[in-house]
Amino acid sequence: MVINHPQKASELLFPLPQTVEDLPGTFRFHTGLCIATAPLFQSVGLFACEVLGCKAGGEDILFKENRELQGEAYEMKISKQQVVIKSGTTEGAFRGLSTLRRLILSAQNQIPCCRIQDYPLYEWRGLMIDCSRHYFTPAFLKKLIDIASLFHLNRFHWHLTDDQGWRIPIDGWEKLTSTGSKRTLLQHTDNRSYGQAYSRQEIQDIQAYAHMRHMMVIPEIETPGHASAALASYPQLGCTGGPYETQDRWGIFEDVLCSGNDEVLTFLGDVIAQVASLFTDPYIHIGGDECPHTRWETCPKCQKRIQDQGLGDAKELQSWMTSKICAMVHDAGKRPIGWDEVLEGTQTMGLPQDLIVMSWRGVAGGIEATKRGHQVIMCPKTEGCYFDYKHTDDPEEFGNLGISRISEVANFSPLKDIHDEVAKPYILGSQGNLWTEKITCGSQAEYMLFPRLMVLAERLWNPQESDQTLQRIEILHTLCDALSLNCYKGPLS
Ligand code: ACM
Ligand code: ZN
Repeated sequence: MVINHPQKASELLFPLPQTVEDLPGTFRFHTGLCIATAPLFQSVGLFACEVLGCKAGGEDILFKENRELQGEAYEMKISKQQVVIKSGTTEGAFRGLSTLRRLILSAQNQIPCCRIQDYPLYEWRGLMIDCSRHYFTPAFLKKLIDIASLFHLNRFHWHLTDDQGWRIPIDGWEKLTSTGSKRTLLQHTDNRSYGQAYSRQEIQDIQAYAHMRHMMVIPEIETPGHASAALASYPQLGCTGGPYETQDRWGIFEDVLCSGNDEVLTFLGDVIAQVASLFTDPYIHIGGDECPHTRWETCPKCQKRIQDQGLGDAKELQSWMTSKICAMVHDAGKRPIGWDEVLEGTQTMGLPQDLIVMSWRGVAGGIEATKRGHQVIMCPKTEGCYFDYKHTDDPEEFGNLGISRISEVANFSPLKDIHDEVAKPYILGSQGNLWTEKITCGSQAEYMLFPRLMVLAERLWNPQESDQTLQRIEILHTLCDALSLNCYKGPLS
């Protein structure tokens, strides 16, 4: 006979809270329970009723206000009779609810009693999804946002434009979606086209869904490279005038936005102003990565711009463009973020201080950015943060370009290789990036994301010794099963 001993909260929780004290007994969760909240937490209470399937009107699960708890901090006491979550903000209350939800899922409704005090180590805990190479449905994006928030992630970076598709409507530039969202599927011989764009309503709806879960949404508009879809729509925005096509191959393409053409600046100004009004959070990501300068070297307009502006070379032309685009983001009332190439060619020119640098090629770009006074998000492909990479080097393993082993993720820290104390406060946190060249559906995306994303979430919330993280990986398998997520369960290193 199998005797099912109830486990301890300290053995079930992932991310592990800052402190968790196991107490004797269990609290039996069922949907007949009632939820009550302090007035400040009404929205969290409604959300809790929805996700837990409970009703309002009783104090089985109680959200109380404690103004001493700041930001995302919360406390939770689970006794045999009651769950009490205390916090000073709705965000803190939401994080407490997420911990409770995970305990309910892991403990199959017999929740071990415990006392928890909790708060995060890093403020930027993100997930990036490339919706250009693969268009994910709004319903699937919502599923990912919900799961990410369940593990205390708080940033959804939405990669909306690239060579292979433009996925956001812009007034006055309708071809971006009518032409730029579609590509021919050359892998098939029937000339079908692939792709669509999100409507404004869908974008607003996804934002509202994310905000309910205390996740900010950061739209990314790629500039000045990775722009084939924009060029296919409006060939006059390129150096040669085209014709161009929305790409159906992967890689880096030499045709990019022309930096000498004032119409490109008008175009980007329109796009950024409209993106800024559609998205309510403070940031716009302006791309900046992998922009070849081949066309600029021979384009008369680009060369004239270099001369007129007294720039040394095409690298400086890119930083001139970056500065212009940052100014557009500022004019639209937002704060810019760029991939680490934005630092190149700026040694003498500088960039706006508030530009946040996303370090992806390694950690060097991020370290250099801190020296120049920029805040940094560390998501190096070399340290396990790229979730399009394979889980192992097994030739049968699914994935693209490289390997991000779970053991690497379990060792990752945004502060890795940062030895200068002065640099540390500039590091905001990290995120997992899912590029989607090889991905054709949601269940493949899930296989790449889980459980790596959850391991990263713990690294950013409350990192444990990597051995201890890896020993607890089965908690994540159980949770993924309970959440109907396709999860990789193979070797960890
Ligand atoms: C990137 O992976 N090209 C940012
Ligand atoms: Zn040009």
